[in-house]
Amino acid sequence: MTEADRTRVAIVGAGPAGLLLSHLLAASGIDSVVLDQRSREEIENTIRAGILEQGTVDLLVSSSASSRVLTDGTRHDGIELRFAGEGHRIDFPGLVGRSVWLYPQHEVLRDLVAARLAAGQDLRFGASVERVEDADSDRPRVVGTDADGQPFEIDADFVVGADGSRSVVRPTVTGASTGGYFREYPFAWFGILCEAPPSSEELIYSNSENGFALISQRSPTVQRMYFQCDPEADPDALDEQRIWAELQSRVPGTTLREGTIFQRDVLRFRSFVAHRLRRGRVALIGDAAHTVPPTGAKGMNLAVADVVLLHEALTALLLENDDRPLDTFADVALRRIWKAQHFSWWMTSMLHVAPDASDFDRLRQLGELRSVVESEAGRTYLAEAYTGWPFETRLA
Ligand code: DHB
Repeated sequence: MTEADRTRVAIVGAGPAGLLLSHLLAASGIDSVVLDQRSREEIENTIRAGILEQGTVDLLVSSSASSRVLTDGTRHDGIELRFAGEGHRIDFPGLVGRSVWLYPQHEVLRDLVAARLAAGQDLRFGASVERVEDADSDRPRVVGTDADGQPFEIDADFVVGADGSRSVVRPTVTGASTGGYFREYPFAWFGILCEAPPSSEELIYSNSENGFALISQRSPTVQRMYFQCDPEADPDALDEQRIWAELQSRVPGTTLREGTIFQRDVLRFRSFVAHRLRRGRVALIGDAAHTVPPTGAKGMNLAVADVVLLHEALTALLLENDDRPLDTFADVALRRIWKAQHFSWWMTSMLHVAPDASDFDRLRQLGELRSVVESEAGRTYLAEAYTGWPFETRLA
């Protein structure tokens, strides 16, 4: 017999979405249990994107989830779009009065884990959730096995699936393990971390005849760069010289500052939106609900926007017995999700060279890039989407 624990909100997944939700709920006086099958080290060392929208940063700071973002992160007031050998700056504050911050996701995770543990959060690493039961009742339940191999059950008022793209909670909500709108792309990113000074102060998104490259940064001594590759590419197959040659050929006009490559990975591109985000008292947020291709760095920011909405819906439900915000949660969330899906797809398709691209496709793409950079309206749309739309919590 397993003894059932009891909590108000059982959160599956200790990524940015799950941890931030537990943090905001605690500030509202609502207790939660956060479960993750990974270890703390694994969670804190997963390499992900580095760009935070202005609204994400404001929330991390105002909720005391992270103050380091302001001291250890770097504000970026623009990006460069490069094509046909020329760079074009998109000036964020000048266009939309907002900026973004370069602060890697694993740093956000370190801050969140530290803040939650310091506050006495029930945060269980190594806990595998097997299923969610009674989603349609007022007492849904999470069933799994803990780090010592012991079975557990947690009875809750609400269950949240914040457990990433391979979510085990998703089938409960959508009725199937995939259960969503899905698109795959015929390319991926070859990503590296290297020990070198920055090659550029701002990010460069570069479209070239040889394919796309992104020059990003991590610190004065560590840089992050990506170049478009085949989704089946083996990250260990290329030697360092070849990697630098590939990168350099895609950013004509900039001489990259090379250094030892100490981490490499291949990131596949997918777009996904679950058919349903909520069933009864179970909801999906973050990558469990949607995945975007990485161009434009919307993934974690979109997860944060879900959290803001679900936090509001859960405080209304659990503190005021008002289920109206929960009833509109999915519709409100989906409006931003599809805008971000569009933006991520658009940045991706505008900047990458598809393997079967014809001369027409290439020339049309240059026309599209020119339409953006040569028009204030075009630059403004890009800046608005990149720095992040305001958080909305209601249907207009
Ligand atoms: C980074 C990743 C992105 O997908 C992006 O659009 C910008 C920056 C990064 O890892 O630094």
